[in-house]
Order: sequence, then structure tokens, then C-alpha cells
Amino acid sequence: MTKPNLLSGMQPSAGSLHLGNYLGALVNWASMQDAYNAFYCIVDLHAITVPQDPAELRANTRRTAAQYIAAGIDTDKSALFVQSHVPAHAQLAWVLQCITGMGEAGRMTQFKDKTQKNGVDSASVGLYTYPILQAADILLYQPKAVPVGEDQRQHIELTRDLAIRFNSRFGDTFVVPEAAIQKENAKIYDLQNPTAKMSKSGDPKGLVNIMDDNATIVKKFKSAVTDTDGEIRFDREAKPGVSNLLSLFSAMTGRSIEDLVGQYAGGGYGALKGDLAEAAVAAIEPIRTRAEELLADAAQLDAILADGAARANEVAEATLAKVYDRVGFIAAR
Ligand code: TYM
Repeated sequence: MTKPNLLSGMQPSAGSLHLGNYLGALVNWASMQDAYNAFYCIVDLHAITVPQDPAELRANTRRTAAQYIAAGIDTDKSALFVQSHVPAHAQLAWVLQCITGMGEAGRMTQFKDKTQKNGVDSASVGLYTYPILQAADILLYQPKAVPVGEDQRQHIELTRDLAIRFNSRFGDTFVVPEAAIQKENAKIYDLQNPTAKMSKSGDPKGLVNIMDDNATIVKKFKSAVTDTDGEIRFDREAKPGVSNLLSLFSAMTGRSIEDLVGQYAGGGYGALKGDLAEAAVAAIEPIRTRAEELLADAAQLDAILADGAARANEVAEATLAKVYDRVGFIAAR
């Protein structure tokens, strides 16, 4: 029996992935690669929707690839590739832009969030059409599942709408994908601002990076914001800081929240933070070390990406050819 396809991706917009990327998505990517024929992409086209430094983008693209592998993506099983190495992404995005309504694109909350500070006029058109490129990333691979964190739900909904619309206008072409959002870790919160999601654009002290050294990781956990009542219990509303620490602890050790509360209740926040910091170092250090080893051999990493691009291009080109035919383009000779 052939396995169903799966696609997901991350932006190479920083020198490191963070704990939200890792626990919200990457852990699931690694666990799903046996049951699915998986395609994992580094979305460099998306990374230029906001101003970028070319040398940094190049470095961060390789750093992201190294972290995917170090965190468990097996490139014998799964295709790991860079989005700009597969021209069909930009090509399909154009076709999908032509069946997306302006109002529909305007309802995407990411654009609203990202333009809140500096206003719409200084944003690029690429930032506006970003979710349509994401729909193209996905639909090219005919995936059944798209493993992502909660913040991507709206983009997957748009992708489904566009697939259904295209299929009904031009005949069955795309598989309509499902978001695979794992309940427990779908939203990891910032350690300094525990009601906001952990993100690159948040407070650097509240952001735990995979490439951080051990001392930095420990320091960030030890200075995590909690509250003043001193009680250890899980209550997202009343105790967002402590609840985030408990769910991070649970995610990194596999222990249940009840079990952790049982152990730490009455013990004060210091012990919880200290042990959590230790568990985080134990989970992150091997990934960082492996990523650094991989980065030391750029030629080998590039060869892995070339192999992934060849596998991705084969599938993507077949879908694009079908789409071009369906919309009425004559075949190129
Ligand atoms: P990006 O690069 O912001 O994030 C990559 C993945 O990490 C998840 N994530 C989180 N999960 C839990 N808690 C958090 N605090 C947290 N922060 C990030 C995201 O949900 C995501 O799964 N638009 C996408 C990239 C993209 C993509 C795609 C994803 C482009 N094309 C096609 C899937 C399929 C993005 O910016 O993710």
C-alpha cells in the first residue's frame, strides 16, 4: 500500500529554531515520517516577504536544514528541500492568486499582526499574498496531512478553500489537506510574557532557542515570569506562567502534568524551574551538537538538499503540469 503524502515547512528567518517550532511542529514531523511519505521544506521565498540580509538568509537556510535533521528528520525516508529549489511553488502561487479574492486574502490575521506596528503602507505585497504561496507549497504535494502549530490553522483553512474552489471550477486536481495540530503543544508561550505565543519577534529573554548554549537556556528558564501566589497548579487563565512551565516540562519529559504537580506542589517555583531547565538542556543539547556537526560540512548538507529538491521537483512538476492544463495553458514544446 502506498503511504499518504505529508508536507510542512518553516521559515529560515533566524539563526535558530525555537522551542515553539520544535515542540509545536518538529517533534510531530519526526514521528509522522514512518506513516507518511513526507516532504519537509525550508521556505526561503516566504523569508523575503520582510526585509532580509542575503548572507544571513543563506546561513539561516543551512542552519534550519541542519536543525531539521538533528531533531530527527531522516532524509532517507523524507524529502528535505529548500523552497526556492522547486520553481513550481512560485508558479502555482500565481495561479492560486488568480482564484483568491482580495477580501479573502485581507482576512488573514498574520498580515494584520505583522503590519500592526509599522502600518500597511510599508508592508510588501509579498507579505499580503504570503498565505497563497503557502497554499501552493502544500497543494503541489497532494498531502493528506499538514503538521503545524495552532498559529497556522487559518492558512490551512485558506489552502483547503482554494483546493475545493479549484477542484470545483476545473475538475478534481488537488487533494484537500487536513491540518495535523497536536493538542498539547500546539501553542507554546513566551517565558517572559506567558499569554503571548513564543516567537522570534517576542522578548529575546522569553524565547528558548535550539541553538542556545546550556547556560543561556538555564538562565532563561530560571528568570521565567510566574506569579506571586507561590502555588503550583495548572490553570491557564489564572496562572499562565506556571501552566506554561508545566506544559513545557511535560512535553520535554513525557511526564503527565498531574504527575508533575504532584511532585512539585508546595515546593516553590525555584525547584520547578531548576529541574525544568535541566530537562530542557537534556532535550536540546544533543540536537544543537548534532546540528553543529552537520553545519561543519556544508558540502554534504547541500548534497542532501539537492537530493531532496530532486524528489520534491518530481512530484511538484507533475501537479503543476496538471494545473496548467486544467486552467487552459497550451503545453510548452
Ligand atoms: P513558522 O516558521 O513561523 O513556524 C514553523 C512551525 O512552528 C510552529 N510554531 C509554534 N508551535 C507552537 N507554539 C509556538 N509558539 C509556535 N511558533 C511557531 C508553527 O505553527 C509552524 O508549524 N507560514 C509558516 C511556514 C510555511 C508552511 C508552509 C507551513 C510556509 N509554507 C506550508 C506548513 C506548510 C510559518 O511561518 O511557520
